[in-house]
Amino acid sequence: MTDVKKKILTGDRPTGKLHLGHYVGSLANRVKLQEEYDSYIIIADVQALTTNFEKPENLRRDTFQIAEDYLAAGLDPEVSTIFIQSMIPEIHELTMYYSMFTSVNVLRHNPTVKTEAQQHGFSDMTYGFLGYPVSQAADISVFKANLVPVGDDQIPHIELTRKIVRRFNDLYKPVLVEPEALIGEVPRLLGLDGKTKMSKSLNNAIYLSDSSSEIENKIKEAVTDPARIRKNDPGHPEICTVFGYHQVFNRPELEEIEKACRQGEIGCVQCKKKLAGCINVILEPMRERRVKYENRPDLIQEILLEGSKKAQQVAQETMLEVREAMGINYFGQHK
Ligand code: TRP
Repeated sequence: MTDVKKKILTGDRPTGKLHLGHYVGSLANRVKLQEEYDSYIIIADVQALTTNFEKPENLRRDTFQIAEDYLAAGLDPEVSTIFIQSMIPEIHELTMYYSMFTSVNVLRHNPTVKTEAQQHGFSDMTYGFLGYPVSQAADISVFKANLVPVGDDQIPHIELTRKIVRRFNDLYKPVLVEPEALIGEVPRLLGLDGKTKMSKSLNNAIYLSDSSSEIENKIKEAVTDPARIRKNDPGHPEICTVFGYHQVFNRPELEEIEKACRQGEIGCVQCKKKLAGCINVILEPMRERRVKYENRPDLIQEILLEGSKKAQQVAQETMLEVREAMGINYFGQHK
């Protein structure tokens, strides 16, 4: 065995720019662990089609956008393998085999699928949408990943993956690996409106690609404690969105800010300025890295082509074992 590193597989649907919620939920972990693990990052364009099949023309733009965000956030293409789902047909083949022994009722009860169906107003789910967690199980297991850094909404999908892997290993031969989820430090970051989680479609997000003045303006508009009208009114940090962000992005000053807010010693304007400063400290190195890739689709294309080639080799190896285990390699080892 030359390859002793454990593997990570994770990724996102390309549906737009990445925001701070993505960063604290999963991306920060990927960046942190990329040297320690053999890391594969999937841009799940086919999964994005489950909701965007009527407008596939955005996929190319969104795929390049998400790749740029990954690189800016610190995924090093020399270290992490960033690839495109549709370039790995082995994933679709494995999805088909898994679908033979995956129960429709189990899929119907998946809480994340249910929530998303509601959000999109699907009364009658398509086969592809209902089944995307099966395809996600193939994304993960075709790489024999050990660890899947994700936000907590993805837990049901990792559970399903573990189930499918166990069933496959049981039915045929033990060739697949049961993965574990790794949930970020802040599994669910609230949006600037303070009502629900940060999300592009709710227009309450701080993007990794926002400029420092955009950050300042967005935070200026953020909802705080409605009981604080004058600067010296005592505040209630427990209900303040801005304080919620201080808890995530400004741990060293947390106690001091909490006390000052309760005693009406720090005004919201000043408190927001401090927060904008802390967020800019995280985003500034991203801005610096982004310069290299901005307006360079040729560079990004090269990274994605290389990554997809490397990822496909791994997937092909696994599929040889899968077909052999299932006895559907009638003529020996064929690719
Ligand atoms: N479902 C994930 C999301 O909505 C994207 C995804 C696709 C994924 N395949 C994956 C995540 C495999 C982790 C592992 O963002």
